[in-house]
Amino acid sequence: MSINYYNMLHVKKTFLVLILFSVQLLSTYAQTDKPIYLDSNAPIADRIEDALQRMTLEEKVAMTHAQSKFSSPGCARLGIPENWMSDGPHGIRAEVLWDEWYGASWTNDSCFAFPALTCLASTWNPEMAHLYGKSIGEEARYRNKNVLLGPGVNIYRTPLNGRNFEYMGEDPYLSSTMVVPYIQGVQSNGVAACVKHFALNNQEVDRDKINVVVDERTLREIYLPAFKAAVQEGKAWAIMGSYNQYKKEHCCHNEYLLNDILKKEWGFDGVVISDWGGVHDTRQAVLNGLDMEFGSWTNGLDWGTSNAYSNYYLANPYLKAIKNKEFGTKELDDKVRRILRLTFRTTMNRQRPYGSFNTPAHSLAGKTIAEEGMVLLKNKKNLLPLDKNKTQKILVVGENAIKRMTIGGGSSSLKVKYEISPLAGIKSLASPSSEVTFSMGYASPAVAEQDVVGAKADTTTYDAAAIHAAAVEAAKAADVVIYVGGLNKNDGQDCEGNDRASMGLPYEQDALINDLADVNKNIVVVLLSGNAVSMPWINKVPSVLEAWYAGSEAGNALASILFGDTNPSGKLPFTFPVSLADCGAHALGEYPGDGTDVHYNEGMNIGYRYTDKQKKAPLFPFGFGLSYTTFRVNQVTLSDKHLSKTGSIEVQATVTNTGDRAGKEVIQLYISDKKCSVERPVKELKGFTKVALAPGESKVVTFNIDESMLRFYSVKDHAWISEPGKFEAIIATSAEDIVAKKSFTLSL
Ligand code: BGC
Repeated sequence: MSINYYNMLHVKKTFLVLILFSVQLLSTYAQTDKPIYLDSNAPIADRIEDALQRMTLEEKVAMTHAQSKFSSPGCARLGIPENWMSDGPHGIRAEVLWDEWYGASWTNDSCFAFPALTCLASTWNPEMAHLYGKSIGEEARYRNKNVLLGPGVNIYRTPLNGRNFEYMGEDPYLSSTMVVPYIQGVQSNGVAACVKHFALNNQEVDRDKINVVVDERTLREIYLPAFKAAVQEGKAWAIMGSYNQYKKEHCCHNEYLLNDILKKEWGFDGVVISDWGGVHDTRQAVLNGLDMEFGSWTNGLDWGTSNAYSNYYLANPYLKAIKNKEFGTKELDDKVRRILRLTFRTTMNRQRPYGSFNTPAHSLAGKTIAEEGMVLLKNKKNLLPLDKNKTQKILVVGENAIKRMTIGGGSSSLKVKYEISPLAGIKSLASPSSEVTFSMGYASPAVAEQDVVGAKADTTTYDAAAIHAAAVEAAKAADVVIYVGGLNKNDGQDCEGNDRASMGLPYEQDALINDLADVNKNIVVVLLSGNAVSMPWINKVPSVLEAWYAGSEAGNALASILFGDTNPSGKLPFTFPVSLADCGAHALGEYPGDGTDVHYNEGMNIGYRYTDKQKKAPLFPFGFGLSYTTFRVNQVTLSDKHLSKTGSIEVQATVTNTGDRAGKEVIQLYISDKKCSVERPVKELKGFTKVALAPGESKVVTFNIDESMLRFYSVKDHAWISEPGKFEAIIATSAEDIVAKKSFTLSL
């Protein structure tokens, strides 16, 4: 190869010019002092400090409170975006007016409704929780919300609580296991999950003031674990304080819950957001761990008055107090750091995906979760599944077969793109040669769609006796009656703001079911609810299905179960007691308190923990649910009878599908501490696995047991400890269906 010296010289010259150019570029860059906070490659901690030191006092204070019903300011001067929140937890709520709760009449904000969280919890399948979180997070992201106000993990203490449908049941282990993947799914979209309502918001009666009196151990072992898991394992970026009080302080600014436990003990680095209107005092809001104030009804100002936001407890009163030197800026800087962290994790995260809205994938996700969550409670004559190829006269009775269940219920009410009713679902799967007819049977007042301006509730009035009689008459001629009733989202049912008055079904449904069962033995009772109901007619009906509130795909999912396209595999996330007297909170504790305090005297004895203590079988136990196939669980073995402090032992069980359909069974591990210096529940859930099996197939399920699973919260030591001694590993298919108990000892 010949060397051309002229060319080489030219290359050298060009190289020199390039170097000079780059030096110049670098120095220009240095001069412009590109802010670190804008550099998405810089560590978040550096971005926070950089942004913080550029902000004025006024800008910082502005960030700590709302500017509209669902948004708070960023810092426009610095190009830091606003925060936009949305309920949650079952779909992305319609846009509301700037200053109001009511709908803004947008035409592109009709969302997909996912099943209620009780239904999700009933899947006992963490993969479903992840699918749910990921999908709803995509909807939130598409709608430009960076905080989703959910999920809710308040423990199911009483079947009367109007908001149980938004939560994940009675057991701390089940709700902890299900909440973590939900959060991870949501946050994979660059949208914060705001876990609510922290803490002890277990009733709606007097919720804005009631002071919960609960012992420390119960607090730690029952009411806090799901929040702790959300923070430490799920890494939730936001948490919402609750309306009620604890230790005589409102939970939105509660020193013990927010500063001592959440932030110091658990190391929470996200934002604490108040519930809407949950802030009551500037001093406490500043000092006791709250970061962002929303929805306040400010002193002397009318709801919605235009400058109300600047009168929030954390607005002008806070600014004034800082200027008067009542507070320094230490607390303010901590709040703003957290809010900036939220921003960098969400709106200023360049990597976050774009999101999607109302996609076929979301419909499929919603339907799959709904199908997997519905619980078959009784199927005596194998009436279910119905034969979809058979020509038959199917009578559908009950208002819930046509009532829209995505509307109502309070803040989780949705404006949906579509909702398949149970009746529509049944019609679409029944054989075309079948005759499907409908009879109301009972009726409740309709609820107006709160997010659609001008929407009015249907005011049709029914003659209750006449529609009751008509349904019973029609049932005489039917081959099968599918009764679709239960509760609904009306005030006083499954609805925020109030509790139910009793455990019974409303609108005289018990009498109706009785009369229908008298004239037609082939009756399937489908309950739509988010709560346990009493069933005085249980011995008269062969089949009962708990179908929850299943969202947009409710009817399709229900029909798929009724006609056997899907084999039910849901398990109850809470106990169905026979009556309120069999419910720990009512039998041993107080409900709803005296308007000032409510004492949780029952301690840990709620749900199956109370049933176990009482030694009385409930109507349907926690963890219970039938299938169209049958399972055998046997060969339960323990790898070792001795567990050391640092070791682990294995418990195994073999589960076999002994029927002729593919199905899923949930194998549950409970642990019982046989002797302890403190009273412990008879047994507690410590593991579960959902297994899918083809007909005839067997699988071995393995659980590892280590010392951490045997601990209780020692009030004396302020720590989780275990005591050496005898324990039992219990393999079961519900809290009442025990397969085997294996003893072992723990040595420390
Ligand atoms: C509810 C919250 C909800 C908020 C905003 C409150 O009334 O308790 O769960 O996120 O309103 O709608």
